[in-house]
Amino acid sequence: MSVLVLPAQFTFKAKDSLDFKAVLEWFDWDNLDQDVVIDVRTCKLANYQALALLLLYVWHLKSKGHAVSLELSPSSQDSRQSPSDMWRRMGAVGWSQVLYERGNQFKGSTVKPLIAIRSRDDAATALSKAEEFAKGFNVEYEKTLQYVLSELLYNTMEHGQRWFNNNRIQIPSIIQFTWYEKRNEISFIVADLGIGIKKHLEMAYPAVEDDLEALRMAIKPQISGTFGKLNSYSGKNNAGVGLYISTNIVQKLGSEMYLVSGQGLLHVSPRDITGKLLTKGWLGTFVLVTVKLTDKKLPVNLHEMLSQARDAALREIASREGKELADKLVVDVGNYFGKYAENKEGAIEIRDRKLLPSLQEGKDILLDFANVSSAPHSFLSALLATPIKSLGMLAYRRIKVTNATPEIRETIDYIFDENTA
Ligand SMILES: Nc1ncnc2c1ncn2[C@@H]1O[C@H](COP(=O)(O)OP(=O)(O)OP(=O)(O)O)[C@@H](O)[C@H]1O
Ligand SMILES: [Mg+2]
Repeated sequence: MSVLVLPAQFTFKAKDSLDFKAVLEWFDWDNLDQDVVIDVRTCKLANYQALALLLLYVWHLKSKGHAVSLELSPSSQDSRQSPSDMWRRMGAVGWSQVLYERGNQFKGSTVKPLIAIRSRDDAATALSKAEEFAKGFNVEYEKTLQYVLSELLYNTMEHGQRWFNNNRIQIPSIIQFTWYEKRNEISFIVADLGIGIKKHLEMAYPAVEDDLEALRMAIKPQISGTFGKLNSYSGKNNAGVGLYISTNIVQKLGSEMYLVSGQGLLHVSPRDITGKLLTKGWLGTFVLVTVKLTDKKLPVNLHEMLSQARDAALREIASREGKELADKLVVDVGNYFGKYAENKEGAIEIRDRKLLPSLQEGKDILLDFANVSSAPHSFLSALLATPIKSLGMLAYRRIKVTNATPEIRETIDYIFDENTA
């Protein structure tokens, strides 16, 4: 039996900015016995968002087949809430019913909402809860918060899903709101146990350097890990502007946003955007937003903010595309080699006539494998081994691959590894 004792303080320490270290380092993702007991009694101070992560962690352990139980302290009589009281207050004691019975939600206090997100209906519930929270404040806050919140909810539903038991049971994502009345501040966290931003982006971009680079990419306009796939929730192709616009808005509101995915941490504040790699990160992705509410009028309204952000996005994309087209060689592999790309001599010819000279001229290369259903190692190696060798580690930056099937992707990764070692 593994007994996991919650530390005396299970909070995101706040000085100038939030510090997730103590909480994230507590989670043990492997090396546990079959029976796991989580002892909450020792914990004297917690915050709701950290407890929301604890809840996802419990679900994770269940999905791995562990038997999990929590030891809570009895309800305290005085007004000071223990973390066990907070857990009950959020309705988190119902974690098992919510996990295994699809329609179920947490039955917690309405002032500390904890909502499991699996469907559009759940997202709508969360949005209307947020509306209640922001009521009484400047209406522009309310609308803007709703906007950011819905982008985050859609992201977690679209990109952050996690299933187990042969894809029969879905682990919901979580949203938790807290209103810190004294500070006049709202915090909310949207968290999941999905594959994380890096892996998700790598479905469209090869070899993203690390989790931090992935986060930086994700907040750029029109970078999306779901090219060309119709989304089951929105019924549209993802444009890849959700996070760009959201981070812009958060900055204009004078709010703070923290994005954590894998070991990456990005902090968006009104002044700047800073990032770092954590020694121990989160298995999936979470985004935490804190908004200081004022009744002061905002400098701009949502409509203006959105249109400014869209304009900025368009300018940024245009300048990037102009630049990229000028210094990029795009090779449509399917066009040259057909559905089964295996002509090795042809590969060598393209390599010598196109790839190597372009690299010499300083151009980057984008290999588009759309409509190619298979390509053997010998073909890919003939095409890529020499160019990769000539570049060394730079090859990861200068040679990009898109629209490749998982098998082709894997073979190419292997060739990259072989030739940069
Ligand atoms: N919760 C998440 N889990 C995994 N990856 C994510 C998550 N949230 C965002 N991402 C990654 O970040 C990318 C950028 O997100 P963003 O919201 O800006 O664009 P999008 O969702 O692809 O498109 P849009 O929001 O414009 O419909 C996503 O395409 C995805 O690769
Ligand atoms: Mg999105």
